[in-house]
Amino acid sequence: MDPFGRHIDYLRISVTDRCNERCLYCMPKGYKGWAERADHLTADEIVRVAEKSTDLGFRKFRLTGGEPLVRKDIVEIARRLWELPGVQTLGISTNGVLLKDLAIPLKEAGVRSVNISIDALDPDLYRKLTGGRIEAALEGIGAAAKAGFEVVKLNCVLLRGHNEDQIVPLVKFGAALGMPVRFIELMPLAPGGPIDEKNFLSVADAMKLLSAHDVLEPDPGKSPGHGPARYHRLRNSGALVGFIGSVTCSDFCADCNKLRLTSDGKLRPCLGRHGEIDLMPALRSPTSAAISAALEEAIANKPEKHSFDEDFEVERPMTAIGG
Ligand code: 5AD
Ligand code: SF4
Repeated sequence: MDPFGRHIDYLRISVTDRCNERCLYCMPKGYKGWAERADHLTADEIVRVAEKSTDLGFRKFRLTGGEPLVRKDIVEIARRLWELPGVQTLGISTNGVLLKDLAIPLKEAGVRSVNISIDALDPDLYRKLTGGRIEAALEGIGAAAKAGFEVVKLNCVLLRGHNEDQIVPLVKFGAALGMPVRFIELMPLAPGGPIDEKNFLSVADAMKLLSAHDVLEPDPGKSPGHGPARYHRLRNSGALVGFIGSVTCSDFCADCNKLRLTSDGKLRPCLGRHGEIDLMPALRSPTSAAISAALEEAIANKPEKHSFDEDFEVERPMTAIGG
């Protein structure tokens, strides 16, 4: 339990701050702040932290980045995490570009759930927003659909003036594949870039846009994940759609269940607050007691809410913290 009565059992592990795409909202223009590869946690270190966290009751794990699939040992990391007693579910968040070859190995390693970013279906817009090729992402989504994961979800960051007209096509695309699409509010994590507050589109606005096409009904079913999305079912198409109101929903943090481990070995209690606890001294210590103590300290330091609405100043972009 954290000081606000929340049960913290979900660890999001960023395995790298590198990425093979360049999303306008994630990487500030000209970003060169990547850590040296040698600063990244090794597979052994990641597994050690995860193992200690299961002793404290952590059960849900997700690998993120940066782009986790650019790490050469990603399948090994997944397999070793899945083998830990106490790990109940293992997910990965990816841009999908490398999933074509990795979907089956990841499934076999134990990954249960895959979240794939897709902010546009239009190829030119996709390129403009991410710097990448939509064909590669679509191939990855196709491979994930066939690999037999328990859940595959699609993530779309809402960008006013850019992808409003992609919302309906994305919902249809997801529904045809049986994949819920989750619309995420832009968090101010890479300011100074070509995308900023004027591009903010709230989940309420996205719901209004969708309501012009279908009837949204709150979905009472078990949500297909462990995150903060609120799900709705579209009455006519049957599509399942999630909304992540990270910025506007005042109760967003009320049932937050996670801690983040950054790729350079820091525990971050909240994405939208700056405090971090350096785990490296604990990882270098021969006993594991210091790792447990650091995890407990991070839980004890979880703030009640993020501070995006209080002139949050970015110190590290999302790619460094872990999405
Ligand atoms: N605001 C909202 N979502 C973001 N993501 C990356 N940066 C931001 C941001 N500034 C999303 C990615 C991915 C997920 C892990 O986080 O698009 O879907
Ligand atoms: Fe890469 Fe994800 Fe950042 Fe896009 S949002 S640049 S895919 S880490």
